[in-house]
Amino acid sequence: MKDSNFLQENNARHIWHPMGHPGAVQQNPPRIITTAEGSTITDSEGNQVIDGVGGLWCVNVGYSCDPIKKAIADQVQTLPYYSGFAGTTNEPAIELSYELREMYAPDGMARAFFTSGGSDSVETALRLARQYHKVRGNPGRTKFLSLKKGYHGTHFGGASVNGNNRFRINYEPLMPGCFHLTTPYAYRNPFGETDPAKLADLCVAAAVDEIEFQGAETIAAFIMEPIQGAGGVIVPPETYMPKMREVCTRYGILMIADEVITGFGRTGDWSGSRHWGVQPDMMTMAKGITSGYFPFGACMVSEAFADVFETGGPDVASIFHGYTYSAHPVGSAAALACVRESQRLKINENATPRGDQLFAGLQALAKKYEVIGDVRGGHGLMAAVEFVSDREAKTPLDPATISRVFETTYANGAMVRVGGNNIFMSPPLVITEAEIQRLLDALEAGIGSVS
Ligand SMILES: Cc1ncc(COP(=O)(O)O)c(C=O)c1O
Repeated sequence: MKDSNFLQENNARHIWHPMGHPGAVQQNPPRIITTAEGSTITDSEGNQVIDGVGGLWCVNVGYSCDPIKKAIADQVQTLPYYSGFAGTTNEPAIELSYELREMYAPDGMARAFFTSGGSDSVETALRLARQYHKVRGNPGRTKFLSLKKGYHGTHFGGASVNGNNRFRINYEPLMPGCFHLTTPYAYRNPFGETDPAKLADLCVAAAVDEIEFQGAETIAAFIMEPIQGAGGVIVPPETYMPKMREVCTRYGILMIADEVITGFGRTGDWSGSRHWGVQPDMMTMAKGITSGYFPFGACMVSEAFADVFETGGPDVASIFHGYTYSAHPVGSAAALACVRESQRLKINENATPRGDQLFAGLQALAKKYEVIGDVRGGHGLMAAVEFVSDREAKTPLDPATISRVFETTYANGAMVRVGGNNIFMSPPLVITEAEIQRLLDALEAGIGSVS
């Protein structure tokens, strides 16, 4: 590794970082994260902080998972790469497909199509959804429905169903035939409704209205995150996803659960869909599948969905979609080790009490600090604090002040993530009670600095 002067001088000079202004990043180069252990990261200045973000909602098993590290090292020695296109496969991919089928059988999932990450998984789901209807003789079903505030990655398909305009406007025109429904966001919604059951019913009724307006026979699929992550940790009322499942079934629309964040234990269950008692037709996965140790993802489909393809004619049911790195042997080995460790450590079972502790701590902060407009979470280790400058008017707090909250939180020992006027937390699922308290204390120092 080059010396630290070289690294400081070249930091952000020759890289364009995702999700930021390239010029601003040069003026204010990113922190260099050098090492990590357990739930703690260390930067090049020697600061050690609790990773309240879990990398990027993904390091579920923490940073010290030796079985994953060993599986990657061993697989690189045995078979670093071979193609997974029809005709060849590899041992860890076969084993992983078996494990995932077992793990996600309660969600009705039967087959896995492997990818290199979440955006790839979403792209796969959208494309296969259209093809499913073509195989069944319904080629007119091509449209997609999704939720405002939803995040589904940055490929053109995913961006087209994304529900936050900052990921859309500069890349328009996006894919035609994508329509966005009101999300059941109790703090801000066009109905002015805060009662969860009533809000769910209003949003479901609006969805039905849109489906009938579009014509159900034109719609391929509805995609939603069981709990919206990047859009603000928006937890739907518990009746919402089951009711939308019923609507999708009634109108012949496929339901895609985007489990890229909510999969692999983050909600306290192995999937967010299971958390709400729903079996979708397809699930998109990434992040926690390898805990971020290797870029990898999957699109899983139900038995009934699989049957349509497996018994369909070769002209229409062959899958002409896939990636050079689909079923990558090293990624598959990493995922296999990660899935086994996640189950052995029962990280989902730790997510619930630690998530409750975090949520209760944030609610206590909301009682103390006027700048907190809303606190969301309480379903495993996903939480958000929404900041306002005026509680009554719910005016979003300005970015400069939120940035001060972030910096002071970091200086006091915790990394959190800023998204709009929210601060998000999604720490490793192996985090301890004392570490959650340190995260809360650091965040309180941050909030206190602007209050
Ligand atoms: C729900 C959801 N879907 C898809 C994606 C895209 O995943 P990736 O960044 O791995 O392409 C993300 C990323 O945060 C996500 O949260």
